[in-house]
Amino acid sequence: MSITKQSVVNSILTESTQLGTAAEAFAPSNIALCKYWGKREAELNLPINGSLSISLGELGSRTSIVESDSGSDQVYLNDKLIEPTDRFATKVISFLNLFRRELQQPVVIKTVNNIPTAAGLASSASGFAALMLAINDFYRFGLGNEVLSAFARMGSGSASRSVFQGFVEWQKGLREDGMDSCAQRLDLEWQGFRIGLLKVATGAKKVDSRAGMQRTVESAPLYQAWPEQAAKDLQTIKRAIEDKDIELLGQTAEQNALSMHATMIGSWPPLLYWQPESVAAMHRVWELRALGVPVYLTMDAGPNLKLLFTAEYEAQVRDAFPELTDLDLVAPFG
Ligand code: DP6
Repeated sequence: MSITKQSVVNSILTESTQLGTAAEAFAPSNIALCKYWGKREAELNLPINGSLSISLGELGSRTSIVESDSGSDQVYLNDKLIEPTDRFATKVISFLNLFRRELQQPVVIKTVNNIPTAAGLASSASGFAALMLAINDFYRFGLGNEVLSAFARMGSGSASRSVFQGFVEWQKGLREDGMDSCAQRLDLEWQGFRIGLLKVATGAKKVDSRAGMQRTVESAPLYQAWPEQAAKDLQTIKRAIEDKDIELLGQTAEQNALSMHATMIGSWPPLLYWQPESVAAMHRVWELRALGVPVYLTMDAGPNLKLLFTAEYEAQVRDAFPELTDLDLVAPFG
């Protein structure tokens, strides 16, 4: 019989759950420096390669769960009640159902994202991580962070990393049930590390990461080279963080991101998340770098850029990108 999310949860949570009353949890958003792109198993979101990210401190999702007295589940997003048939609500409820088990106690789940909407960042990573942390609290499971990370991964792969702050590595794992495919915080700090969230284009994307990576794995000949490159990049990025070497980190992260995009472009039908504004912004980064400023870019499955640099160059980066507000500049270590 094939392994399902439910069978994995049942194998870990053998005790019957308790009725909850109220819980609240926060999880940060994260930006991958070495990207997760491609699954070896879709039901459990098991990745083909390991990945490494930086969490965004106070930017992320806050989720609360309370008992409902209305007799049915209710889901709110950013203070708005969501229709039960809406995709967001069904995703949240079906994830909760994995843990509710025999208890059918109706609940109210509220999620608030404080990621600047202007940044155009995906919130599924912080959303599923915050939901998992809140579920753990609500049903008083008392699970450890690595199990929480493995469970959050079943909601969305990148959510495994959002269980932690700081630099985080998600190991791809080897087990069939995926319980070793979880993230860990790296014991490395970098006070001067900065991220700039540069929004260049609006509008919902037509192909989400999940569909995008599936298409790439199935149809892109260039994808063959990806797992080996990602494994190498991950080690290089770790070394660069240890040495606080922004050139090595930036170069490796930028090349990793653009290589991932190259696999997407080489898919069929082609997958190009860049807009003309994205390409223009890339050129501005490269021009600034040519002037001697060590600033690098990374991009996910969307048109926006994330800039990587250090505090000593913040003034130059702000000058070159006046559209960056204080809210778009993140100091992950405070
Ligand atoms: C490009 O975690 O959103 O942002 O596991 O299908 O939910 P699912 O995908 P998701 O993919 C994130 C892809 C990425 C790279 C990364 O965050 O590592």
